[in-house]
Amino acid sequence: MKETWIRRLRPEDLDVVAALNTEAFGGPDEAAITRRLHADEDTLLSLVANRHDALVAHIEFFRILIDGQPSGVGLGPMCVKPEVQGRGIGEALVRMGLLIMAGRGESLVFVLGDPDFYGKTGFSAEAAAPFRAPWSGPSFMANAINPGAPASGELTYPAAFG
Ligand SMILES: CC(C)(COP(=O)(O)OP(=O)(O)OC[C@H]1O[C@@H](n2cnc3c(N)ncnc32)[C@H](O)[C@@H]1OP(=O)(O)O)[C@@H](O)C(=O)NCCC(=O)NCCS
Repeated sequence: MKETWIRRLRPEDLDVVAALNTEAFGGPDEAAITRRLHADEDTLLSLVANRHDALVAHIEFFRILIDGQPSGVGLGPMCVKPEVQGRGIGEALVRMGLLIMAGRGESLVFVLGDPDFYGKTGFSAEAAAPFRAPWSGPSFMANAINPGAPASGELTYPAAFG
């Protein structure tokens, strides 16, 4: 078996994934968002990375409404266990998630995060700039993964984001 592999999150993983988020972010906020996304059935895709029989990374994708239509996707929270950061696990999770979302016909993914990290997988602040959201600036990015994405609009996030 490979040392590190990616699979879908199972309901019984949630406590471990919440603890992983709290450890990686140094606080409980992202764990709470993850739990709420699942409780509200607002997630589109949840992946985890397994390494030596332990979960070491997690990523969420959820629905964002654009002008009231279910035409956007949000990425986050995502995290990698501190002792295995910097080995490509985070980038692999993003790439696999984007591949699955593109395969489902989704066209536009938004994220709020580090431009140096998300810029490697096609996200840019320029692509997000025409959209109105609760946030803006260089950390607010978008990635067009299929043709036909809306060019602008107002974003509505799930209740988990407050
Ligand atoms: C951010 C995070 C998910 C990245 O995961 P990772 O497995 O460590 O990242 P990778 O090893 O796949 O890195 C891929 C590339 O991004 C770079 N990178 C990773 N984390 C970065 C960061 N925080 N800032 C800038 N660049 C970063 C790496 O140097 C690497 O670049 P390279 O290919 O030129 O070497 C992880 O560090 C983490 O969980 N951090 C704490 C929680 C967090 O900030 N989550 C994201 C919130 S949006």
